Amino acid sequence: MSAHEKGYFTEADSVEVVTGRNANAADPRLRQVMEVITRKLHEAVKEIEPTQEEWLKAILFLTQTGHMCTEWRQEFILLSDVLGVSMLVDAINSRRPKGASENTVLGPFHVAGAPEYEMGANICLDRKGEDMRVRGRILDTEGRPVAGARIDVWQANDEGFYDVQQKGLQPDFNLRGVFTTGADGRYWFRAVKPRFYPIPDDGPVGRLLRALGRHPYRPAHLHFIITAEGYDPLTTHIFDPDDPYIDSDAVFGVKESLLAEFRRVEDPARAQEAGFEGPFWDVEFDFVLARA
Ligand code: BEZ
Ligand code: FE
Repeated sequence: MSAHEKGYFTEADSVEVVTGRNANAADPRLRQVMEVITRKLHEAVKEIEPTQEEWLKAILFLTQTGHMCTEWRQEFILLSDVLGVSMLVDAINSRRPKGASENTVLGPFHVAGAPEYEMGANICLDRKGEDMRVRGRILDTEGRPVAGARIDVWQANDEGFYDVQQKGLQPDFNLRGVFTTGADGRYWFRAVKPRFYPIPDDGPVGRLLRALGRHPYRPAHLHFIITAEGYDPLTTHIFDPDDPYIDSDAVFGVKESLLAEFRRVEDPARAQEAGFEGPFWDVEFDFVLARA
């Protein structure tokens, strides 16, 4: 008689006894998932050999993580982010042909319904910070321009805060906008240079990072969701490669292909051409969409 048929628990047969109990699960995917999770979890417990106090500490950590969740704060997603699991799930679900732009985490600060603007609009409504122009093309993998691509962009301000984190201080929909490409696939808009910022670190995930000797910062970036009919939607960022946290993003969102160049332009004639009164940062980045 096999261990699971007998049904009695032993340390050696723990996986077979527990997974055998799930044999009648109606959903085969659930059964497979629970089989793998049980096997890996038991393997971890057997390797770690936690004391009862340590196991209770782990349970309390997860309890506090749950208690931290509200309508606008998802501490479990944050936990998945700092463990690199969000990026891993994203990577598995966005494998693309060579040359196509890479995905990265969505993050909690996207807001649907941002204003739709004409190309060239300044999405920084309070004009606070260092002026920045962002431009480039939306292309397919053959290098042809994609017309009718919808570009949804959002970013933190010069102090590292999103509008939703500073309600009343920043105007609603500050540093957010939606643009649609024409036949040439080009986009351009004006904004301010974003700053690095900490992920929300006043809860159990922040305490875990500190205990691990890790900082909570994300390097300066701009978020994009780019959609076009017939193409795989792209959720990504572009990053400032000179940011102090570029090699140690708290949520592992940085990919080499997403490093943009932030060039400082001092020439008054070029500033005028870009619609600014003085020096500005010039950022150029092409996005390549994969066919659906
Ligand atoms: C963000 O980039 O907005 C973000 C991503 C993951 C966790 C927290 C913030
Ligand atoms: Fe962000």
